[in-house]
Amino acid sequence: MFRAMTVPVGLLLALLGYIMALDPVLEEAWEGWKSLYAKEYPAEAEVIRREVWEKNLRRIEQHNWEESQGQHTFRLGMNHYGDLMDEEFNQLLNGFSPVQHEEPALTFQASAAQKTPAEVDWRVRGYVTPVKNQGHCGSCWAFSATGALEGLVFNWTGKLAVLSEQNLIDCSRKLGNNGCQGGYMTRAFQYVHDNGGMNSEHVYPYQATDTSSCRYNPGDRAANCSTVWLVAQGSEAALEQAVATVGPVSVAVDASSFFFHFYKSGINSCSWRGAVR
Ligand SMILES: *[C@@H]1O[C@H](CO)[C@@H](O)[C@H](O)[C@H]1NC(C)=O
Ligand SMILES: *[C@@H]1O[C@H](CO)[C@@H](O)[C@H](O)[C@H]1NC(C)=O
Repeated sequence: MFRAMTVPVGLLLALLGYIMALDPVLEEAWEGWKSLYAKEYPAEAEVIRREVWEKNLRRIEQHNWEESQGQHTFRLGMNHYGDLMDEEFNQLLNGFSPVQHEEPALTFQASAAQKTPAEVDWRVRGYVTPVKNQGHCGSCWAFSATGALEGLVFNWTGKLAVLSEQNLIDCSRKLGNNGCQGGYMTRAFQYVHDNGGMNSEHVYPYQATDTSSCRYNPGDRAANCSTVWLVAQGSEAALEQAVATVGPVSVAVDASSFFFHFYKSGINSCSWRGAVR
């Protein structure tokens, strides 16, 4: 009998470990989640994805229980990233690497005389387009850039245009951006400036890939960029004033934590930093 065994013992044990860890009570929820997000797996991958999903679900439920006990100020929720491990999420989606700033840019100066209002919501003022989905592509930098530009275009023109991340991905390589492997918002703005405009999502749709060549159409310009202002790094007061007085501001945050991957509602003040993991 032992002679006939061809599956390596280590692999078999690993697979058994996964299979044994699956919770049969979650069968229906798993099937429902898969159909909601149109997930399909080859048979051998499904057991592993289910295991990852169950682990994420348990962590989300644990966090929300703690929130109900007053230990956190924000809630988490299962979403379409439920079958990804933290490391996979970060590799696939978090495409911003901070660099020393090399392009000359103007610095936004906060004015001590100006008092910021207690609350500003640019969504209700018409500056913000619907939520987008970057897919499995580290193009967050492009989405961040369009988000800020969409708000400013609205301020200038009174029209809300949905701008094209694919335009930035395909056309700003020469400035050092690297498509789905990451990039910089400042270089995206620089591209729009140098190029004399950019297209809308409508004429240049999102593909979540970075293998196409640039198809910018100057006859269909949806936005311009004349000047980029930088908020001094680390200055919360200046950032607050820029957000309050200018409009949506493009920022990069460290979104590598589980708490960002499954954020649902409430205020995440990052006070959990150091307390967890
Ligand atoms: C654009 O910004 C200026 C200055 O903050 C403001 O006075 C104006 O009302 C804004 N326009 C729109 C359409 O929101
Ligand atoms: C962008 O700038 C060009 C040239 O100055 C102008 O013709 C065009 O109307 C501008 N487009 C937008 C959307 O502001």
